[in-house]
Amino acid sequence: MNTQALQNNLMKDKSNEAILAEHSKTIGQPFCDNPKISTRDVNVYYAENHAIQDVSLDMGQNEVIALIGPSGCGKSTYLRCLNRMNDTIDSCRVSGKFIIDDIDIYAKSQDPVLLRARVGMVFQKPNPFPKSIYDNVAYGPKIHGLTSNKAELDDLVEESLSKAGLFNEVKDRLGDSGTGLSGGQQQRLCIARTIAVQPEVILMDEPASALDPIATAKVEELINELRKNYTIVIVTHSMQQAARVSQRTAYFHLGKLIEVGETKQIFTNPLHELTERYITGRFG
Ligand SMILES: Nc1ncnc2c1ncn2[C@@H]1O[C@H](COP(=O)(O)OP(=O)(O)OP(=O)(O)O)[C@@H](O)[C@H]1O
Ligand SMILES: [Mg+2]
Repeated sequence: MNTQALQNNLMKDKSNEAILAEHSKTIGQPFCDNPKISTRDVNVYYAENHAIQDVSLDMGQNEVIALIGPSGCGKSTYLRCLNRMNDTIDSCRVSGKFIIDDIDIYAKSQDPVLLRARVGMVFQKPNPFPKSIYDNVAYGPKIHGLTSNKAELDDLVEESLSKAGLFNEVKDRLGDSGTGLSGGQQQRLCIARTIAVQPEVILMDEPASALDPIATAKVEELINELRKNYTIVIVTHSMQQAARVSQRTAYFHLGKLIEVGETKQIFTNPLHELTERYITGRFG
């Protein structure tokens, strides 16, 4: 029996809290040789609530990395740091280093609107603008001047809707309101809106939780396709989904990053007792 397994065995009877109290450093491979985004010593507070504690993690180029962990462990909070969405929450204080390519995400000179075009986000709850389906997708490319005429914009709208697996369902009613679509269609519209501005990184916070299995499969296919050009950070409660779409997985527990590794290793041979308890459903 190796040392880690022995240690795990000794810990079997301990509570999660006791194990967590002893945990000091993320185990596994939180860093990459060629990161797209690099984060170090990240701490996030909501007033007195220390929601993220000393997290350091890299996200690789052309990588899908899954963030998993029990509800309330800080997955969404960490994800929102990466494109400064937490700036919009008054009680929220973020510290640490966040670098995309060689640029400081939190530099004073960094315009959050431009940053969010580079680092797009798809939320758990679909949030289409109260505009037409067409305008939902065309809005970003228009304000960022990505196309030079109507025909180009039409093509970009069609391409984005097709990639998100929605075009065929809406092609005859592009002028209808986006908010009139079903929940799953709205989510695919939001994905189309995000990819229309050609981001470099896409943050997805449980993007498939409102989708049926067919739409979920389409989104997962899209994630695989997008990985050729982008970095994707996906929060999911579905371990099957994490296993299908991601190359690396990061396990969070009560604000701490416990373990990071190749997805297959995390699900078949986790090194940390807390990761093992979570993935085997022996949690609580
Ligand atoms: N807008 C907010 N204002 C105050 N506290 C917040 C806010 N968002 C999150 N928190 C707190 O931060 C902690 C982490 O929450 P977060 O939403 O990041 O967890 P999560 O891992 O995404 O959970 P879930 O799986 O349920 O989505 C929790 O204690 C939560 O109450
Ligand atoms: Mg969340």
